[in-house]
Amino acid sequence: MNAKSDVPRPMKKYYLSTFGCQMNVHDSEKMAGILKAEGLLEASGPDDADIIIFNTCSIRQKAEQKFYSELGRLKALKKIKPDLKIAVSGCIAQQEGKKMLKRTPYVDYIMGPQNIHLLKNIFKSKPARVSVEDNPLMADMEFPVDRRDNLKAWVNIMYGCNNFCSYCIVPYTRGREKSRAKDSIINEIKVLAESGCKEVTLLGQNVNSYESSVDFPSLLKEINSISEIKRIRFMTSHPKDLTEDLIYAIRDLDKVCEHIHLPLQSGSTKVLGLMNRKYSYADYLRGVDRLREEIPKIAITSDIIAGFPQETEEDHECTIKALKDIQFDGLFAFMYSARPGTRAATIDGHIPENIQSERLAEILELQNDITNLKNKELEETVQEILIEKEYPENTDNLIGRTRTNKIIPIPWNSNISPGDIVKVKITKANLHSLDAEVIPLEKGY
Ligand code: 5AD
Ligand code: SF4
Repeated sequence: MNAKSDVPRPMKKYYLSTFGCQMNVHDSEKMAGILKAEGLLEASGPDDADIIIFNTCSIRQKAEQKFYSELGRLKALKKIKPDLKIAVSGCIAQQEGKKMLKRTPYVDYIMGPQNIHLLKNIFKSKPARVSVEDNPLMADMEFPVDRRDNLKAWVNIMYGCNNFCSYCIVPYTRGREKSRAKDSIINEIKVLAESGCKEVTLLGQNVNSYESSVDFPSLLKEINSISEIKRIRFMTSHPKDLTEDLIYAIRDLDKVCEHIHLPLQSGSTKVLGLMNRKYSYADYLRGVDRLREEIPKIAITSDIIAGFPQETEEDHECTIKALKDIQFDGLFAFMYSARPGTRAATIDGHIPENIQSERLAEILELQNDITNLKNKELEETVQEILIEKEYPENTDNLIGRTRTNKIIPIPWNSNISPGDIVKVKITKANLHSLDAEVIPLEKGY
């Protein structure tokens, strides 16, 4: 053996940059898991990495622009470090495929969200530069997952979407719905529970259309019986699939938290039709009424798109009225963004950006008032919170979350640690958080 080969080779490092939704954040946990299982270390920044992976989002144009500007900055780095590998995953990778190589030829690998397993052994196996094929086995694949923290874990229960809402790129980037087998989900959660996990959030584009050997409410029931798991959340739910059985499951299963994210998108039935949402505003209201009849304390949050094509001032007023009537606990509102390849991008009557932005501002301002009022109603009430670490990590503060998903900062205190479930009395409501006093109690019940 010569002296040169005696010198241990430095371990390779990866840097992951994630854009977009929880689904992407969780996919990144899987990619990190795959790379760590291969022996790679996490780099402190892009300059320090042997491979940089962008997990991209194309839901709105802004997210896309942000990615291309970050990618552009790497061109110079690649000149200095010719061995650096750049991989692009996520929805833009899927959507652009080969085309991206024309625009940014310095990208080494393009992998759609259904092909992230190709990261395994990437330095040796040298996969094709572009991998965007549909992967029918995705739902059956097991991945090592590198979770930021084991206390709260995201667990995929399904992939893809069949709904083809006319504005949405997801069915084109993530393919058709595929539900994971129940046993594989339950096994993953049992392993998590053994390693200290207290809360799972079941992830899917439309979790209530989960269908395997059991349906979604029955899946919730099985997870509810895993003793170490204390809380179960899920997202996202489609209003058209809000069944009575699901409402009863939220009402009756003690670990299923009283919170549902139920995107309305518009308060105008005409616009809902143009969006291909498959429910009317009256249908949506009926769902909200049923949820509140059965689970009076439930928190309902939603998504709204402002300025969809052909949305008139009257349609917008319907949305404003809907927000006033329904009183959501929280809302994500976005300006409509035309996505190439979707049906809505081809219809006429696109709304000028200044009007879209005025409508969005009105929606957000109104919702702030509503959220404030809803939070005020909680003052002086007692809530059960799960203690978590704050991210980015802050040693002075922990945070707690109510079952209804409201955030409560908790000053660090030697009697409380992440994973504890404690009772608090709400002393003051703010827009984005609640102040509270901890009610002394035995730890970890
Ligand atoms: N433009 C604006 N918002 C969109 N969303 C999805 N596609 C678009 C688009 N083209 C929003 C919807 C969805 C949320 C995740 O993103 O409100 O519920
Ligand atoms: Fe997009 Fe509609 Fe599917 Fe949600 S349900 S991912 S908005 S197509």
